[in-house]
Amino acid sequence: MKPTNPPKTYRVTSFGCQMNVYAGERMADLLGERGIAPAPQGEEADLVVLNTCHIREKAAEKVYSDIGRLKKPDGTKPMIAVAGCVAQAEGEEIMVRAPAVSMVVGPQAYHRLPDMLDKAVQGERATDTDMPAIAKFGALPQRRRSTPTAFLTVQEGCDKFCTYCVVPYTRGAEISRSYNSLVDEACKLVETGAREITLLGQNVNAWSGEDEAGRAVGLAGLIQALAKIDGLERIRYTTSHPNDMDDALIAAHGEVDKLMPYLHLPVQSGSDRVLKTMNRSHTAESYLRLLERFREARPDIALSGDFIVGFPGETDAEFEETLTLVDEVRYSQAFSFKYSPRPGTPAATMENQIAREVMDERLQRLQASLNRDQLAFNQSLVGKTCDILVERKGKHDGQWLGKAPWLTSVWFTEEDGRSAEIGDLVQVELIEAGPNSLQGAMRKAAIA
Ligand code: 5AD
Ligand code: SF4
Repeated sequence: MKPTNPPKTYRVTSFGCQMNVYAGERMADLLGERGIAPAPQGEEADLVVLNTCHIREKAAEKVYSDIGRLKKPDGTKPMIAVAGCVAQAEGEEIMVRAPAVSMVVGPQAYHRLPDMLDKAVQGERATDTDMPAIAKFGALPQRRRSTPTAFLTVQEGCDKFCTYCVVPYTRGAEISRSYNSLVDEACKLVETGAREITLLGQNVNAWSGEDEAGRAVGLAGLIQALAKIDGLERIRYTTSHPNDMDDALIAAHGEVDKLMPYLHLPVQSGSDRVLKTMNRSHTAESYLRLLERFREARPDIALSGDFIVGFPGETDAEFEETLTLVDEVRYSQAFSFKYSPRPGTPAATMENQIAREVMDERLQRLQASLNRDQLAFNQSLVGKTCDILVERKGKHDGQWLGKAPWLTSVWFTEEDGRSAEIGDLVQVELIEAGPNSLQGAMRKAAIA
């Protein structure tokens, strides 16, 4: 590659999960520290970071076609970095297949992006897909700005090895960031404007650390510490694994007011045989019992989950068991996917892969049930007045979008001269329910 001028502007585009969104923000922080500015709206940047996801579908193919399409206004190609899980899984191949790419950086190595950038400016291509334990976070700059709803990665990696999943290979073993560094970063986020923090991890409830007195604490202990931060109003966490749930976290839902009544707990299937082949190490029954305990601790808790239909060997009867589980739980919202074979995972080479049409039909039926329950949940909120954290303006004058405690989206209008701003917590009466959101009217101005 030829040496080039240092980039003046950047664009970071993140695909996939919220952890990627967090990583994308941190890469933007790093580039910002270098004096590189976000590209103006509608104009291609000098440096484009594609922060990729490898969890489903043909993500790698999409990366190559995105790279092919990138072009600056003068017709030249921007400098390109591929980050995230496709970078981790296919780093060398990307370098061979896409000569326009000058940097490939895995999810555990993105703190080294500025060094790689120096090399790229000199015309050297660089790949860094090392997986050093946790070094990255200490090397990141302080947070300078945040949105009212902020993400904070507390844990990374996965030791569970579900047979369909690529995460243990792309993100490596489970590691927890230290308690002190997380309390510090949370304080900074609040100082710079965050009112809600969502704690992130592939197995967030596997987080463990030592508090300031040196006592071993789990996620509940961290949540309790963060709840003491003045100005922080809401705490959430995602994604959890059923086997890492402990009594303290369940109890925290009844004890910590700032912990929102919402739990995302993937189950994947309602069939014990399928769960076993998935290596999930829980049963449908043990999952349901766990949810019951959350409902006892916090009766209004909204439940969410993840599902995979068409896992290799899944029979019609086994799929029906998933529908039965859904009927029992009554999720407030959920994510459902067709099984997608991931290279290198055990399930990809299992016999009895399920035909696409069968998967399509199962997904449709599952989603019909999930949509039915989501609408019923939204309808159950009508008539309530609750706090809404305002996230953005709506299309109409005096209209805003925010989230209810149950993570439900609410469109509301200002009433009787009360006005709202982004980042306010306002009281809204929920008036009408739709499938994906509710409509409401503002009843009380912002709580200071
Ligand atoms: N195919 C389909 N869905 C998958 N997920 C993870 N791996 C796969 C796969 N190979 C889903 C699971 C997980 C969510 C993040 O993505 O439901 O909980
Ligand atoms: Fe993947 Fe299972 Fe780990 Fe979740 S728990 S990241 S689905 S291996």
